Amino acid sequence: MDPNLETGKSDPITEKAGKTLAELGVHDEAGVQALFDEVLTMYRAEHQRVVMMGAREDPEFGKAAKALHDRWLSQKHGLIRLINDNWLRPAPKELKPLVGPQFNQLRLQPTAEIEDLQESAASVARAVAAHRSRVAGPDLTLPGYRRELGSIHPVTRVQRELEDIFLGIGFRIETGPEIESVYNNFDALNIPESHPSRDDWDTLYIDSQTLLRTHTSPVQIRAMHKYGAPLYIITPGKCYRNENPDATHSAMFHQIEGLAVDTDITFADLKGTLDFFAKKFFGEKTRTRFQPSFFPFTEPSGEMAASCPFCEGRGCRTCKESGWIELMGCGMVHPDVLRHGGIDPERFSGWAFGLGIDRFAMLKYGIDEIQHFFQSDVRFLRQF
Ligand code: DAH
Repeated sequence: MDPNLETGKSDPITEKAGKTLAELGVHDEAGVQALFDEVLTMYRAEHQRVVMMGAREDPEFGKAAKALHDRWLSQKHGLIRLINDNWLRPAPKELKPLVGPQFNQLRLQPTAEIEDLQESAASVARAVAAHRSRVAGPDLTLPGYRRELGSIHPVTRVQRELEDIFLGIGFRIETGPEIESVYNNFDALNIPESHPSRDDWDTLYIDSQTLLRTHTSPVQIRAMHKYGAPLYIITPGKCYRNENPDATHSAMFHQIEGLAVDTDITFADLKGTLDFFAKKFFGEKTRTRFQPSFFPFTEPSGEMAASCPFCEGRGCRTCKESGWIELMGCGMVHPDVLRHGGIDPERFSGWAFGLGIDRFAMLKYGIDEIQHFFQSDVRFLRQF
């Protein structure tokens, strides 16, 4: 709450309201305008703060609404009263026609709004009292109070956009649990306990058999068991790693895994599909690049990059002058992984990819700090 509301201590506006325009050195239209603007800005901030308390059902809401009323509307020494007595009434003749309308605007807005606020605070208090006394159920005749409308989180928005592209070409959405077995997260994906690549994933273990999944890849195993082949899925969801938070790392983040298993699947299917995907997401002019890489669950493995959508590959800050943006890991599903999913690698082959949704959202909206997504700061979230 505003410290002034609580302590009744003086603030710049209260001080100014105690002086006349002459004492404040205000002698012309610009000065009057600036002075009233300052008061209105201050009032709006204080009013908004109390409205938000109401939206949160803050138990102090009633007190805050009363304090706001007293500070602005009290008959004896409310700010409106002081401004009337000190600015308007003694204003010199030539300033009066300017001060009058400004004063009226200032007076009308708080009077109407603060009365509304007090009414809704009273109805919250009545509802709480009725509930406490347990005499009756909730009083459905009480007026409601407005809640602020939220908006779709940017990560969710981008996730849906990515999903739509793959849904359009015959993939279906499959999800898996965030608490996963060590077997599905590692062993079945060809990452045995002794294998050094397990260290690539800084894992949060729950016990020796259970962990918070470090990637969405274990859903590959679950889906192969559940549906068999042929199989075309994408698997969006949250993943967890024991990371120190920084601009691009967070202990919780989002991935989408893709998996296609069918007869006669080749690397050409992988390239063709992912190239189509990149053009859909970043625009038709996008070019793609595949470089060799290593993942235990794919052979061969690759890193896919797209030509930078911001500079069309010429080089800029976002692509660090390289012209390319790394998008995802991918590759041909390792025969052992197919086997662990109960699929015969002699009959079927597959390709897979894994990408970070948060990174796509950061690229799309030009956000340079992943932490913004998870801090629930409405000033950030309201922009989407
Ligand atoms: N699971 C990998 C990771 O989190 C990403 C990945 C790479 C998934 C290649 C795949 C793949 O399916 O083929 O780092």
